[in-house]
Amino acid sequence: MTKILDKKKSEILWKKVMSTAENLPTLPDIVNQVLEQIDNPNSNPHVFQEIISQDPVLTAKVLKMSNSAYYGYSREIVTISEAIIILGMDTLKSLAIAASAYATLSKEAQGYGLARGDLWRHSLASATGARLIAKQLEYKEVEKFFVTGLLHDIGKILLSSQLGKYIDQIRTITKMRNISFDLAEREVMGFNHCDVGAELSNYWKLPELFSNVARYHHQPLEYQSSRSEERTLIEIVHIADILSYNLKIGMGKDGAFYKPCQEIFDKYHMDKKAIDRIITKIHSSIKEFEKAIL
Ligand SMILES: [Fe+2]
Ligand SMILES: [Fe+2]
Repeated sequence: MTKILDKKKSEILWKKVMSTAENLPTLPDIVNQVLEQIDNPNSNPHVFQEIISQDPVLTAKVLKMSNSAYYGYSREIVTISEAIIILGMDTLKSLAIAASAYATLSKEAQGYGLARGDLWRHSLASATGARLIAKQLEYKEVEKFFVTGLLHDIGKILLSSQLGKYIDQIRTITKMRNISFDLAEREVMGFNHCDVGAELSNYWKLPELFSNVARYHHQPLEYQSSRSEERTLIEIVHIADILSYNLKIGMGKDGAFYKPCQEIFDKYHMDKKAIDRIITKIHSSIKEFEKAIL
């Protein structure tokens, strides 16, 4: 028999889950400082360089990634200012965010059956996929697709500790009713990892587009606002998320049970050929990126 939480119990569970946010290592301050500049087209390379230089470990990681085969530059990049010139500010911002978010995203998420590193790999594959698709469609600011793709599933980190008690019921409903895992999560607990992720990104004071990508990445048609740029981000991250599950990266206990929104796949002409092409590229890209970041 499946047990579905009533409103009161669901509220208690929500409070319990959200109260653990304070025990979580927050994304380092540097991420927020970098993100503050992400919407600022006039952001100054010198200010950015100073932000990164506050943290020597981050500086080393960013340089290591800049020099990786992923970016394919033959000449060695030895300073952040050189990296800014060669790779561009936006790429550097993504690198800094990826390097800072690694500690948080690489944690195990036991409730979801995700071992240490699984959620990181899934997030990186989604981020890389979102950027690839955006590039193919010749969108501007492709790094925005990367960073929102990277953080789309942060809700799982918090919800994971409670999910274990409900996952069997959620999976049963998913199979019985042939619905997406996130909808069954919401049915059993009254909320899901998307709601938790949206709340967590507000708690971390990330820009609003992060909370909207987190909230709608499985159900992009639920997004009602007229902000077309944000809508595009949500839709592309939705596609990239599904494609990274196609690659069987960081599957956990839930990965096989998310349903693609066909309307969105059609909108971007994601037929089998296009999908195959993108997932092959994601696969080789993330291998290089991983090597660089670890
Ligand atoms: Fe998700
Ligand atoms: Fe995901």
